[in-house]
Amino acid sequence: MNRRTFLKTTAAGIGAALLPTFSLARSADGFFELTAEKGQARLYGKDGGLSDLWLYNGRLPGPEIRVKRGERVKVRFLNKLDEATSVHWHGIRIDNAMDGVAGLTQPAVKPGESFDYDFVVPDAGTYWYHAHTMSWNQVPRGLAGPLIVEENEPVFDPASDITLMLNDWRLNEDGTLETASFGARHDFSHAGRLGNWLTINGASMPDISLQQDRWHRIRLINSSASRVLDIAPSRFGAKVIALDGQSFDEARDIVGTLQLSPAQRMDLVMRPETAEDIAFETMTGQPFQFATFKVSEASAPDLPFTMPAANTLPEPDLAAARKVPLNMAGGAMMGMRALMEEKSEDEIRQMMDNGMFWAFNGKPGMDDTPLFSAKNGESIVIESRNDTSFAHAMHLHGHHFRVLERNGKKLEHPDWRDTFTTQPRETVKIAFVTDNPGKWLIHCHMLGHAASGMMTWFEVA
Ligand code: C2O
Ligand code: CU
Repeated sequence: MNRRTFLKTTAAGIGAALLPTFSLARSADGFFELTAEKGQARLYGKDGGLSDLWLYNGRLPGPEIRVKRGERVKVRFLNKLDEATSVHWHGIRIDNAMDGVAGLTQPAVKPGESFDYDFVVPDAGTYWYHAHTMSWNQVPRGLAGPLIVEENEPVFDPASDITLMLNDWRLNEDGTLETASFGARHDFSHAGRLGNWLTINGASMPDISLQQDRWHRIRLINSSASRVLDIAPSRFGAKVIALDGQSFDEARDIVGTLQLSPAQRMDLVMRPETAEDIAFETMTGQPFQFATFKVSEASAPDLPFTMPAANTLPEPDLAAARKVPLNMAGGAMMGMRALMEEKSEDEIRQMMDNGMFWAFNGKPGMDDTPLFSAKNGESIVIESRNDTSFAHAMHLHGHHFRVLERNGKKLEHPDWRDTFTTQPRETVKIAFVTDNPGKWLIHCHMLGHAASGMMTWFEVA
């Protein structure tokens, strides 16, 4: 497919917007002040209606919080919503008490109340924060923002270090957020709440300014409730340098597409050689251009590009590792069949009456019993099997893991991740060291799936 055909056929109806960026400054006492509140934004260009949203500091997405590796981050969070909420710092190997999981690591922050988050960020990379109370409802109304941890030595000029938060929305005909179907059983039991429109940093079809002959880092964050985005970096001249915040040893050329599942991040580098527009597309189904890189002539000479240093993560000892099975079952389209081996029809009907459609190891949702308890410093291999008819984006709190194998085949690059995708009938093996004491969630980041059964926890002593 020729990129030029897309340049002619898209963006015209919407009218390109400039890419909004907004970085949060610290207050005098060193706190970032973050407030969840109601607000409005246009999700479908200037002609779309205003949507009623729930926002951090009135911004869509929430303001970018930018800190340095190893820094202590203090956030004074205030809840001005009508319901309880909490903030999770996705991908940060954080102190358990600051993980933001209401009911597991802290009580939910009630309306009018505040909570001080205070934590250290051990790893450089691209992370994000989002609501972690009724996430299936709060996140797709707008409660998400980027959290960027810079390397100690700057690798990119700040103007060339670009964060793009990609979000899928379900809009009405008039371009406003569709709200009637929040929590719909059909979405929960199928692929989740899928939308019909994409924004980047809250804008429709934005222009992203780049400079010719300069290296840029493009940090992609998928904050969608359920939408998997297929990205083809080579179509716009980019290479991948990090996934889920964890830097590779060298920039990687990707043949074809790479999936960016809900909650996942992908850092790219690109150095445009001519001052021409470049289409930024998702490749899910037909290529769809959702932004344009506008390349202008360079105003200053380029700095040479060096790979950001990789973070130091504890290497699991595979020979000594304990194996933990994680069998996913449930959902529509025959996924319940796998559950019937262990449950009676009555039990399954009752589960569904309670709004539970999915199960890990036969258990829908979480109770007082963890999936496993580990000592500090144990090596764990999770052997997951997806017996459902849908893809899932599995996230572990407080740890990063290596993705070792898919369908019994060792991967060429056992990358570090905090969220892995699994396809129907796939087996995926991941490994990590339980080096962070506390109670940690494991859940599907398709937020409706998590709310209807795909959520459990593990404990590190
Ligand atoms: Cu991104 Cu349990 O979270
Ligand atoms: Cu799922």
